[in-house]
Amino acid sequence: MTMHRRAVLSGILGGAAAFGLPRITFAAGEVQRVDDLIARMTIEEKAGQMTCLADAFRPFNPPNPQAGIQDEKRLSEEIRKGRVGCLFNGIGVAGARRAQELAVKESRLGIPLLFAGDVIHGLKTIFPVPLAEASSFDPELARSTARAMAVEATAAGLHLTFAPMADVARDQRWGRVVEGSGEDVTLTALLSAARVHGFQGRDLRRADSLLACPKHFAAYGAVAGGLEYGSVDISDETLRETHLPPFAASFAAGALTTMAAFSEINGVPATADRALLTDTLRGEMEFRGFVFSDYTADEELIAHGYAEDERDAARLAVLAGVDMSMQSGLYIRYLPELVKSGAVPMGTVDVAVRRILYVKLAMGLFDNPWRSLDEEAERTRIATPAHRALARDAAGRSIVLLKNSGVLPIDPSQGQKIALIGPFGEDRDNVYGPWAFYGDPGKGVDLATGLRAALPDAAKLAVEPGCGMDGPIDGGIARAVEIAKSADIVLLAIGESQTMSGEAQSRTTIEIPAAQQALADAIGATGKPVVVLLRHGRALALHGSVADAQAILATWFLGSESGHAVADVLFGTVNPSGKLPVSFPWESGQEPFFYDRKSTGRPVVDNRTEYRARYTTTDNSARFPFGHGLSYTEFVLDNLKLSDSAMRWDDTVEISVRITNKGSRRGSEVAQLYIRDRVASRTRPIRELKAMQRVSLSPGESRTIHFSLIRKDLEFIGQGSKRIAEPGMFDIWVGQSSTGGLHTQIELYAAALPKN
Ligand code: BGC
Repeated sequence: MTMHRRAVLSGILGGAAAFGLPRITFAAGEVQRVDDLIARMTIEEKAGQMTCLADAFRPFNPPNPQAGIQDEKRLSEEIRKGRVGCLFNGIGVAGARRAQELAVKESRLGIPLLFAGDVIHGLKTIFPVPLAEASSFDPELARSTARAMAVEATAAGLHLTFAPMADVARDQRWGRVVEGSGEDVTLTALLSAARVHGFQGRDLRRADSLLACPKHFAAYGAVAGGLEYGSVDISDETLRETHLPPFAASFAAGALTTMAAFSEINGVPATADRALLTDTLRGEMEFRGFVFSDYTADEELIAHGYAEDERDAARLAVLAGVDMSMQSGLYIRYLPELVKSGAVPMGTVDVAVRRILYVKLAMGLFDNPWRSLDEEAERTRIATPAHRALARDAAGRSIVLLKNSGVLPIDPSQGQKIALIGPFGEDRDNVYGPWAFYGDPGKGVDLATGLRAALPDAAKLAVEPGCGMDGPIDGGIARAVEIAKSADIVLLAIGESQTMSGEAQSRTTIEIPAAQQALADAIGATGKPVVVLLRHGRALALHGSVADAQAILATWFLGSESGHAVADVLFGTVNPSGKLPVSFPWESGQEPFFYDRKSTGRPVVDNRTEYRARYTTTDNSARFPFGHGLSYTEFVLDNLKLSDSAMRWDDTVEISVRITNKGSRRGSEVAQLYIRDRVASRTRPIRELKAMQRVSLSPGESRTIHFSLIRKDLEFIGQGSKRIAEPGMFDIWVGQSSTGGLHTQIELYAAALPKN
């Protein structure tokens, strides 16, 4: 191809920006190529480009109802006729090549297929679930695991991952909390952007660049009652303040696709919401890529009670701005007739096809349809020792030490007898986490294996499940109690099975299943020191002997290296440094529960409980707050200083704080900066995280760190959905969690006012 001149695409196409086309640099000839193709395409071929179907060439088992064409022969025919643009959720180079050969060599126009899949926390090397990894409070870690996933996924014949999940999740009953970065908007935005960078790398045309698809647009995490696929009723201000920023950050990081949410917002299903998918997404947020529907979500407009029938559903989705229909096949079935009858303008279809073809162009598919289909890469780049080492490191950094009376770390050279009790001890079916269906079953390191590998004498470890995941085992508790009695310390491995969180796994209570709680209480009654190793995909409400244990580690689902990583932390090879990305409430009934809530007119103060905004049955606080996480060493913050206690309109205020490691081990702490706008024309949360910094210090070492605050950090979405900052007083805290910390204040002055 001749590359005479390069230009920004929207520039070349004149009005292209208005259509929301990708803002990528193309050569003029490339743009011409897309124009020529569109001019030659039949409406059937256009609808084909807008259709994504399950990959029957290399079928996997997506966690979804079976729908669409499940047979390679029939799908081959569709590809030959140009009736498919994208296949999803199959892996393997050989199958992808067969499909690509058909598209490139046997279809009339030879347009290459896009291969997509859900690579959420790993392909074969499984990394911690995204919520676990969010505990690292470390965008660089998220970037590096995403890069490793991209290397594996592209070696397995994938071009795009349906990730990251950028949904802020504030109700722990919702099972998909596990797929995101937790309850906070700043943390979710930082980690989502880092993951986009990691997946895509610097150059989209490289064979190991995996396109990202931040999902689910928008406010899917706000479903009422945490009920999966449910409804969202939300103010426009909250939508913009809490749920859109992680998407904006992901687009700014270069994501070229997104996925419409299954849920409805304020009475309109996202899949048919033109104001959301076109006016907000493209008009205001300037998104320039293409929009996938979620799995059969266009067809589901009928069940929502929004579309009359399939034809109507296809019409509504395409007019709203859904460019690519996933799995229902509605576009290929109905678009030709819808255009012919005038119900859908050809121009709308052309814009959608153009967006899709530009993304294919941007990733180099037209020049090389065989990119990411390389048997040599498939043999050498998947499940490498380097990825395994990264998985172990990431897992160690994802563990949160919630509580420690001093029993941890355990010194294995002391030869203590250790009892590993609970259904997760030797279990390998619940190691990876709920979104790792490409991982090889049974290849993750279970707890017992990880502990034995780290103990000088493996015979010091006794293992007994005591109960099943969700029910008793005959004589299980009695055996567990006997073993506990003869041990010096008990490791109690309890929590949620892999099927209790993830898609369609909403729960009404977020507690340890009853059979496991009974086991925990029986073990607690032995009086032996107990370390709880929680396995979970959400924050939990802990009770009885679980809450009273001498130590508790939140270990989430840690992936391939689970058992090793837990052993690293238990034995002190790794000093825990994770921080909670979700608040642990006292009771399930506090949900939705998150730290950046509003004050109300009657906040709880001085333990006065009458006629206050609280439940009569529990405290309003968290058992373990957002941002909380202990270490085996002790960090002290002091010397909080401001460069100026007044901030003029365009000023920067520098905030510094000293962190000292007062303990006897090297460790790492996350200093967290929170603000509160004391008085505003739309009430503000009691705290908002604005920045964080991780510092690693040796014993006795101190470091002063600096934060810069500008007016933008003090802005919010005011009445009428306008982003504003208002002059006045702001509280500032720098601390080790969302509670407590060092306090100061600044005053923001309006532009015209002189300083002092
Ligand atoms: C999920 C999406 C996922 C898609 C494809 C849907 O059920 O909501 O997150 O990407 O399936 O597997």
